[in-house]
Amino acid sequence: MRRAEAEDAGRIFDHLLRLSVEDRSLRFCGAVREPTLRRQAENVAAGYPAGLLACSPEPGAPVRGMIEIARIGAWAEVALSVEPDWRGAGLAPRMMLAAARWARLRGIHVLEALTLPENGAMRGLGRKMGARSRMDDGMIRQMFDVDMLLRDELGPLPLEGGAHPVGPVAHLASVSNHRPADLRRAAA
Ligand SMILES: CC(C)(COP(=O)(O)OP(=O)(O)OC[C@H]1O[C@@H](n2cnc3c(N)ncnc32)[C@H](O)[C@@H]1OP(=O)(O)O)[C@@H](O)C(=O)NCCC(=O)NCCS
Repeated sequence: MRRAEAEDAGRIFDHLLRLSVEDRSLRFCGAVREPTLRRQAENVAAGYPAGLLACSPEPGAPVRGMIEIARIGAWAEVALSVEPDWRGAGLAPRMMLAAARWARLRGIHVLEALTLPENGAMRGLGRKMGARSRMDDGMIRQMFDVDMLLRDELGPLPLEGGAHPVGPVAHLASVSNHRPADLRRAAA
C-alpha cells in the first residue's frame, strides 16, 4: 500500500482511461471528459488532499485499481475503481479496508460513497461491508462505519500495517475531487 506520488499521474490517468465510458460514469456519477480525468489524475498524484495508497510489487507497474478519499470534516468521501480484468477478486473490499485504516489514523469514523442507483456492484459492495444507505437527491449515499470495518484489528495501524498484498498490482488512492487550491495538503 502506498500513497500517490508525483510520478504516478500518468499511471493514474491510464487507469482511468482503461475504464469503459459506463464505468467512468458510474465512478464519477456522470459523464467525464479526458481533460477532467487528466486533471483528476494530476491532483491525486500531487496528493490533494492526501496521496495514493498502493500495493505494487513492481515499482512503476500500472495502476489497476484505486480509491480516493476526500476528507470532509468529521467524515470522508470515498470513490473507487477497479479495472474490468481485475474485478471479482476482492480488490474493492481490500481498498475499502485500507481507506478505513487511513481514516481511523485521522480520527474519522465514517466513510461515505455517493453511488448512482443503477450501480449494482457498488450497492453489492455496500451490503457486503455493512454500509447503511439512504437516498440523497436521486443518488444513494452509502455510509461505511470505520470502526465496524476494522473491528478485528486491535488499534490504529500504519497504512502498511497488517495489510496483505492485494494482488500483483493494485493501487489505492486518497484523493479529492476538489482543486488543490481549495484544500490543505493532508498531514502525513
Ligand atoms: C465497484 C467496483 C469498484 C467493485 O470492484 P471489485 O474489485 O470487482 O469488487 P469485488 O469483486 O471484490 O466485489 C466485492 C463485493 O462487491 C459486490 N459486487 C461486486 N460486483 C458486483 C456486481 N456486479 N453485482 C453485485 N454485487 C457486486 C459483491 O458483494 C462482492 O462480494 P462477493 O464477491 O463476495 O459477492 C468495480 O465494479 C468498479 O470499478 N466499478 C466501476 C466504477 C464504480 O462504479 N465505482 C464506484 C463509484 S463510488
